[in-house]
Amino acid sequence: MPQLHIHPDIPALTAAVAQRWLRLAEQAIAQRGRFSVALSGGRTPRALYALLASPAWRERMPWAQTELYLGDERCVSADHADSNARMVRESLLDQLAQPPLFFPMVKHPEHPAQDAAHYAQLLRERLTEDEAYAPPCFDLVLLGMGADGHFASLFPGTLAVEDRETLVLPVWVDALNAWRISLGRRVIAAARARMVLVTGEDKRATLLEVMHNPLSSKPIARLQHQAELEWHIDQAASSHSPRQPD
Ligand code: 6PG
Repeated sequence: MPQLHIHPDIPALTAAVAQRWLRLAEQAIAQRGRFSVALSGGRTPRALYALLASPAWRERMPWAQTELYLGDERCVSADHADSNARMVRESLLDQLAQPPLFFPMVKHPEHPAQDAAHYAQLLRERLTEDEAYAPPCFDLVLLGMGADGHFASLFPGTLAVEDRETLVLPVWVDALNAWRISLGRRVIAAARARMVLVTGEDKRATLLEVMHNPLSSKPIARLQHQAELEWHIDQAASSHSPRQPD
């Protein structure tokens, strides 16, 4: 059963997710000496990254033992307005006196397959546990959800969304007429934790289907059959009426 956390608004959601991030970081560092996170892109997580970098939170975070990666990226230059790496730098890394390790995904926007292969090798080198056959294992993967039910850059109708083996994939997205690079389902499902952040009324119908229709073909509905997801949604995205004060 998915873990569903409904928050009254975006500030409440980001504060709750920041608290969970800190708890997961403390556990990972206590057990393995480090905390590895695959960050989601798009608009939704900006508020979270800004909160983590704020004076109220940044001193509480174990940045020195934290390693940040990307869950997916647009095949654009690092300074392009659509770049997830740029968004992470602006909202989080540039605000910190001693930022954590950060591994961008795209170095050669015109060579998606090459960048995907290089990122997969990076993950194998840095995040593969003892067993050689095991996939690289993140402590946390942050995900968003598109109104079409995509997560990372695994969009409906792409071969990538069916791929259960490849660690990191180049993805041609017809709907966007653009190349993306994305973690594959295998790596996302293998993570120790996955938090999905969904806000806004435009996601409500898709969320209702994903939560209540076991036969939904939405990409994130299929991930849900493969791995436990911890959902954090705001009231605007929820179909539940607001909880009345006790
Ligand atoms: C990206 C994301 C993508 C995102 C969803 C939701 O690179 O765009 O990683 O998977 O999470 O598209 O995007 P919003 O948060 O902008 O609604």
